[in-house]
Amino acid sequence: MKVTAIGTGYVGLVTGACLAEMGNHVVCLDVNPEKIRILNEGEIPIHEPGLLEVVRRNVEAGRLQFTTNVDMAVQHGTILFIGVGTPPDEDGSADLQYVIAAARSIGQRMTDYKVIVDKSTVPVGTADKVKAAIDEELAKRGVEVQFGVVSNPEFLKEGAAVEDFMKPDRIIVGSDDEQATLLMRALYSPFTRNHDRMQVMDLRSAEFTKYAANAMLATRISFMNELALLAEKVGADIELVRRGIGSDPRIGYSFLYAGAGYGGSCFPKDVKALVRAAQDEGIPLRVLTAVEEANERQKRVLVDKVVTRFGADLTGRRFALWGLAFKPNTDDMREAPALVIVEELLSRGATLSAYDPVAMTEAKRILGERPGLSFADKADAALEGADALLLVTEWKEFKSPDFDGIKAALKQPVVFDGRNQYEPSLMKALGIEHHGIGRGT
Ligand code: NAD
Ligand code: UGA
Repeated sequence: MKVTAIGTGYVGLVTGACLAEMGNHVVCLDVNPEKIRILNEGEIPIHEPGLLEVVRRNVEAGRLQFTTNVDMAVQHGTILFIGVGTPPDEDGSADLQYVIAAARSIGQRMTDYKVIVDKSTVPVGTADKVKAAIDEELAKRGVEVQFGVVSNPEFLKEGAAVEDFMKPDRIIVGSDDEQATLLMRALYSPFTRNHDRMQVMDLRSAEFTKYAANAMLATRISFMNELALLAEKVGADIELVRRGIGSDPRIGYSFLYAGAGYGGSCFPKDVKALVRAAQDEGIPLRVLTAVEEANERQKRVLVDKVVTRFGADLTGRRFALWGLAFKPNTDDMREAPALVIVEELLSRGATLSAYDPVAMTEAKRILGERPGLSFADKADAALEGADALLLVTEWKEFKSPDFDGIKAALKQPVVFDGRNQYEPSLMKALGIEHHGIGRGT
């Protein structure tokens, strides 16, 4: 099939590359010429395990192209995915300007039947707006061209995006157009062959499902983070509690890890957008409002622990930071807890030496030159002469570090473990002062 991905970011690029891998002919379009240049030079603009190989293989096979040429891209696909950003507006609602601009660019050019697929995370009712924008553009041109609009939200996780796309738990398709539904079934058939994972529903329910999923996952995390605060006070260990409740199949183990707060381009913005959309309907979402507030507080929890240990004035103190990306296996820094931690520690007069296995370039781009902040080129180098280590992102290389080396490099052996990677009993035996999240025993 001929497919176009409009927006070649995390979602558009993974979608385009993975669909090409199944034999489709895919054109990825972006308005950012720099991204397209990088892709056309055989590299990828993001760090995503396994993606570069899929991209290169399919470019070589002639099934995957990258372009800034809107005419060519719109002409190419029978199925056009819109995977552009939907960042938060000032009031928290999803800003749909990029989605609508993409829809208009299709309406301005299409000459034959197309399925337009909303893959971006968009509020309920967006498919109607996309339809209206295309209709308006067709009317301006005075032409009549049939098209279907489908909602097909994406559930991939960064750091595991290729695997998630290739082996989806479910493929949600919202559609009220029979021909479009058939084409979507055909496109996704290689992903659903062993087990039909496609759920076809109405457009609004599909759009809603995406927000509900992210909101539920964020709720689990904030729930555990709040319980972790209590566990510390009452002398319980949140890790044991997590295992204890996770073994109940009605609860399950996933997304119950207490930590330094959730970040990333989606949970924070999607929770805000759902809360905002509900407000507009006169339905205050109290639980989700609290989920968001709890997460804002959680991003400061490591700093609170540092302040309790070293005092509010951190002048003359130096801290090593391990991990800057919002989660391991990505260089994405959007809404990363590390950003809050860096800001808060610097504002209290501390100096920082930060290290991340892949997000250093992105971190430097976002944080810029700051007095007091330096970047180390190795994990060990960040530790030299620091008063304590803060583990912010649980990259694999931080899981079993050389604890003797840590003790020797730090002024005093103090570790703030923001992702509960180290066993408190082991730390005690090693003579390391360990501050985890919710480990009150
Ligand atoms: P991104 O910022 O990485 O990429 C979006 C791309 O769209 C950018 O490269 C931008 O230049 C391009 N773009 C904007 N307007 C355009 C236009 N008119 N024509 C062509 N290109 C255009 O964003 P992302 O992380 O891929 O997210 C995209 C959407 O998918 C969002 O709604 C997000 O919530 C959702 N989503 C993201 C993830 C994720 O893990 N990142 C997962 C599921 C869903
Ligand atoms: C999340 C969802 O998991 C995807 O299904 C969804 O498609 C995506 O958002 C999206 O809509 O963009 P992602 O943000 O890439 O994916 O990463 P997650 O693995 O969900 O982690 C998000 C944040 O939650 C990270 O900061 C992570 O450290 C934190 N987290 C996760 C916890 O604090 N505890 C947990 O138990 C799990």
